[in-house]
Formats: sequence, structure tokens, C-alpha cells
Amino acid sequence: MTGLLDDLTIIVTGGGAGIGLGVVRQCRAAGARVIVFEVDPGKAETVEKTGGVFHRVDVADPVGLSEAITAVDECYGPIYGLVNNAGITIQKPLNALSLDEMELLWQVNQRSVLVGVQAAAPLMEKAGEGSIVNIASNHARASDQGYEAYAGTKGAIVAMTRAMAWSLGPAGIRVNALAPGLTMTETVSDLAEDPARSKEFNSWHALGRVNSVDDIGKLTAFLLSRNAAAITGAEIVADQGMSARLGAI
Ligand SMILES: NC(=O)c1ccc[n+]([C@@H]2O[C@H](COP(=O)([O-])OP(=O)(O)OC[C@H]3O[C@@H](n4cnc5c(N)ncnc54)[C@H](O)[C@@H]3O)[C@@H](O)[C@H]2O)c1
Repeated sequence: MTGLLDDLTIIVTGGGAGIGLGVVRQCRAAGARVIVFEVDPGKAETVEKTGGVFHRVDVADPVGLSEAITAVDECYGPIYGLVNNAGITIQKPLNALSLDEMELLWQVNQRSVLVGVQAAAPLMEKAGEGSIVNIASNHARASDQGYEAYAGTKGAIVAMTRAMAWSLGPAGIRVNALAPGLTMTETVSDLAEDPARSKEFNSWHALGRVNSVDDIGKLTAFLLSRNAAAITGAEIVADQGMSARLGAI
């Protein structure tokens, strides 16, 4: 069977857990060679079991991130895809958020996307094509108390994606933002062990269930693929209508 991403090399940041792991699994299922940039060495075994190649990379370190991207191009053939997924959430009352926390959110969630694309795009251009998916969040369009800095990074990812699509389109590179709603990662699944909480989470979604990490993985694999050739500069919202609901939540 021919896969959507047969023999293409794709980098997934933060691919050791949660949504990133779903992306690794679905890109592998679509035939890709998947290289994972992950800060936590404890996730190496899980990554390898899922069929990815583990590299310890902290996306908040711009030099390390750029060097790792160059090394992947040299070792595993031309880079076709980059999934900027690594991200952290800090929810705190607005006035309690420290400068260090603001800086960390900027470095991990937002600056890493700029630096990763700066390093990968020239290599993709040399190969003649490329596809980038930036994982945003539905917090880019509807947020809540205490998420100011996190939501800001996610809104920035959507805005940067639009500009990048125009910078890189002439080189044959597409750039899209994928904005998941609540997704069943380990953290969310721990919270959902409480039946009342689980019922509440499900009620936020038009289909009555929380997204799985593989739901997001499949969408990412499709956006990366040549079947999505007509899509660039887009924000694909994958929250089952949560942020579109009148008078929501
Ligand atoms: N889970 C959700 O409901 C949800 C919803 C919308 C958007 N998102 C976004 O999806 C992305 C993944 O989130 P998740 O919920 O799967 O997170 P997660 O915490 O389950 O997994 C994140 C992975 O990224 C790694 N990581 C963290 N910082 C890193 C760094 N500096 N360098 C390299 N790797 C790093 C972690 O070790 C972990 O393996 C994030 O960008 C997040 O904002 C998540």
C-alpha cells in the first residue's frame, strides 16, 4: 500500500508524549521516516517503540535546534516536513505570572517555531519542496482566565504561519497552523479519571468526546502530505466546534 508520506523525512518536536507521539505514530503509518526532537531522555524508549528516531534536543536552545536540523538533513536525507509541536502550558492568575515564566513560554512555544523554520526552510528549498505544520491551539481564538501568556504564544503561531506561507511559498514550501482543542494526552487523561470532570470535558465538544492524540496525528499527516497541496497559510481548527459555539463555555 502506498502511504501519504512514503520515504519522506519528517521532524517532530516534542514527539515523546501526548499529541507529538500521536503525530509520530500517524506519520509512521503514512510511510514517513520520523525524527523526534525531545528534551526528556526518559521518552527515548517510547519514541523508538513507536518507530521514531530519538534525538535529545531542547527547542528553547536556538543553536542546538538549528544544529540538530542541519544534522538530520545530512544523516537522513532531505528534510521534507517539520512539525513544530513542542509546547508548554502555564496557567496562572495574570498578576502572578513572573517574567521568567513569560520568557520560558516565548522561548519554548514561539521562538522555537521561528528558529526551526529559519533552519529548515533553506534545506527544504534546496530539495525543491517542504511542508511545515505549527501546532497552535484553540486558545488562539477563545481563551480563559490565567492563559494570557500561553494564548499569546498560540495566537502568535497562527499569525506567524500566515506570514511564513508567503515568505516560503515561492520556494515550494507550505506552512499551516493546526489548532487542536482539548486532546487526550496523559495530563488530560489523569484529570478525566474523575467522572464529573470527564463529563464536563465531553460536553465542550459537539461530538461529545475529547480528541485523541491520533485524531490530531492524522490531520497533521494529511496537512504535511502532497494531498494538501492547495492549503498554505491556513489555521485548521480541530476542536469539534468548541471555539465556534455561541456563548461558549
Ligand atoms: N493537550 C491539549 O489539549 C492541547 C490542546 C491544544 C494545543 N496543544 C498543544 O499541543 C502541543 C503538545 O502538547 P501536549 O498536550 O501533547 O503536551 P505534553 O506535555 O503531553 O507533551 C509535550 C512533549 O514535548 C516535550 N517538550 C517540552 N518542552 C520541550 C522542549 N523545550 N524541547 C523539546 N521537547 C519539549 C515534553 O517532554 C513532552 O514529551 C503543545 O504545543 C500544546 O500547546 C495541546
